[in-house]
Amino acid sequence: MGKSIFLGFPHMIYGGDYNPDQWLHRPDILEEDIRLMKEAHVNEVSIGIFAWKALEPEEGVYNFEWLDQVFRRMEEAGINVILATPSGARPAWMDHAHPEAMRTDSMRFKALHGERHNHCYSSPYYRKKVREMNTMLAKRYKDSPALKMWHVSNEYGGECHCEYCQAAFRKWLEKKYGSIEELNRQWWTGFWSHGFNSFEEIESPSPRGEWELHGLNLDWARFVTYQTNDFMAEEIKPLKEITPDVPVTTNFMGIYPGLDYWRMKDTVDVISWDSYPTWHNDGETLAQTAMSNAFIHDVNRSLKHQPFLLMESTPSKVNWHKVNKLKRPGVNELVSMQAVAHGSDSVQYFQWRKGQGANEKFHGAVVDHYGKADTRVFQEVAHLGQSLEKLDEVVGSDTAVDVAVIFDWNNRLAIGNLQGLSNRRDYEGVVRDHYRALWEQGLNIDVIDEEEDFSSYKLVVAPMLYMVKPGVAERLRAFAKKGGTVVFTYLTGLVNENDLCFLGGFPGDGLMELAGVWAEEIDALYESDRNSMIGLEKEYELKDICEIIHLKGAKALANYGEDFYQGQPVLTLNEYGKGRCYYIAARPDYQFLADFYKKVVKELGLAKPEFDVPEGISVTVRESKEAKFYFIMNFAEKDVNLDLGSICGVDLISGQEYSGKTCLLKTGYLVLKVEK
Ligand code: GLA
Ligand code: ZN
Repeated sequence: MGKSIFLGFPHMIYGGDYNPDQWLHRPDILEEDIRLMKEAHVNEVSIGIFAWKALEPEEGVYNFEWLDQVFRRMEEAGINVILATPSGARPAWMDHAHPEAMRTDSMRFKALHGERHNHCYSSPYYRKKVREMNTMLAKRYKDSPALKMWHVSNEYGGECHCEYCQAAFRKWLEKKYGSIEELNRQWWTGFWSHGFNSFEEIESPSPRGEWELHGLNLDWARFVTYQTNDFMAEEIKPLKEITPDVPVTTNFMGIYPGLDYWRMKDTVDVISWDSYPTWHNDGETLAQTAMSNAFIHDVNRSLKHQPFLLMESTPSKVNWHKVNKLKRPGVNELVSMQAVAHGSDSVQYFQWRKGQGANEKFHGAVVDHYGKADTRVFQEVAHLGQSLEKLDEVVGSDTAVDVAVIFDWNNRLAIGNLQGLSNRRDYEGVVRDHYRALWEQGLNIDVIDEEEDFSSYKLVVAPMLYMVKPGVAERLRAFAKKGGTVVFTYLTGLVNENDLCFLGGFPGDGLMELAGVWAEEIDALYESDRNSMIGLEKEYELKDICEIIHLKGAKALANYGEDFYQGQPVLTLNEYGKGRCYYIAARPDYQFLADFYKKVVKELGLAKPEFDVPEGISVTVRESKEAKFYFIMNFAEKDVNLDLGSICGVDLISGQEYSGKTCLLKTGYLVLKVEK
């Protein structure tokens, strides 16, 4: 608590990706950059991210002088450096000499040189080259006072199906299962006569081959995470040997499905992620987009339960959305502060200066091709820089949380694999709906995977907990016994960690006892089909999936209004030990969740703001030993009146005291410090 992520730098980090290696022919521009950075109140640059060619122009020929000079400039200007290792993209000479280091896709096609993020994580040559490069970087810059953090590679992702990777996969499987018989049992390979006689017969999943053994699909996905993490760990090793005190991060991609970040979080010291929501899209309000973004911030904070970094964002627009909309005036400051509100100790951009050519030349950046400071974007960036300078007290502060929502990577894959309902399973959307109902009340929320410890929470919400890994059911039961409240929905407790169905009735693995219901059948609804939930103050619509459940100790709070299961329970409550468990057997409209969670939050007395949160306003609280910091943010796209009730605090940005009734202007926000 209260510890800054950057050693010896107790301020909000403000800056982002800087690619001087693309501008070495323009020393005048490199000089100008420093002047402009000071004007923008930038205090950090992330450099070297794709600089392999500049650092090693030919095999074994190195050139660090330009980087020495960048370091010198940054040291002189007092700007911190996050130094990247360049493994995210390779120069052409390397791919020509070592094509085996390039990726093979699931169709077994070998990549050609180009793009980025397309190396084989198993290639012994590439691992060796990366180790050598990282060692050289660490040795050369270890004593620079500007070096504050390592940024290993860039957005690790994708998978490789080459022979090195197949061999490593087989080894991984052998270690996991011990014998081929055990693997056959766990993958249910009797199906379609797909059994194996030896590990040598196993191939990674492919659209041209095997993709219907769900156990194989899951294990392959787990292996991809394992191998990527192993590669990352090897990258980090020389950095830790040479610069043990310099923290290491890598930029995650939000809730990217290809890697299970929960299995990678312990390999890095600090979590950081790249956030590019489609602000101002045509299907959502700004508040809805903000809610989805908040969800991902909370995933990233929850990974280590400590402050994280917003490693990339755009100051204006990206170049890869369907429609690349400009952030409206004030929105960059608002949504950047949203990251801080959810636990980020930085605001960082991709990128500092727009490149002159290639595919990202029209991606938003702080400095435009125009090259000067008198642009709207630059001025807004500089304004935010000044605001962040007022938040020293917030740096390193914690987020106290009573409620966790489970969003599990493996469960998500398994729900994706499952055939037999409809294509409207929408795990992510369902989890987010539950999250939204809590977010709109202004609660701090953790978003965790099912392998996390539940014991510190009062409420655990587990939507569609289809896959129940070993020990999870037991821990949930223990949590409820001691007084915790659990919320389950339809599709809970169907398969184990290898995607084998539990026998003896759903929810399986002992969750039936906790839920107090037996789920006998699952009905899938067409898009226009509706059922209803009756018996509460209001009637609610049900869609997509309706489970037919029977009471096994729970009591019914509401029933189905239609179809042959009319009158059967759809919402139940089971008292369990000192706690309780709700079961929502169908997908309700959002209004149900909003009303339901208001009641639950009140019943449990969960920590939430002491005032009513109007629509479109978000409230999160960070806290230090001395004070609470209320981030009150207006995503409503209009001015909003607010009654702060008993809260009285000083806004760290304006220095003004606030209490009682106030008006939050469109895109406005407050960071109210309330002494403890
Ligand atoms: C990613 C990458 C950056 C850049 C941005 C563009 O996040 O890490 O290098 O390409 O996307 O939005
Ligand atoms: Zn490979």
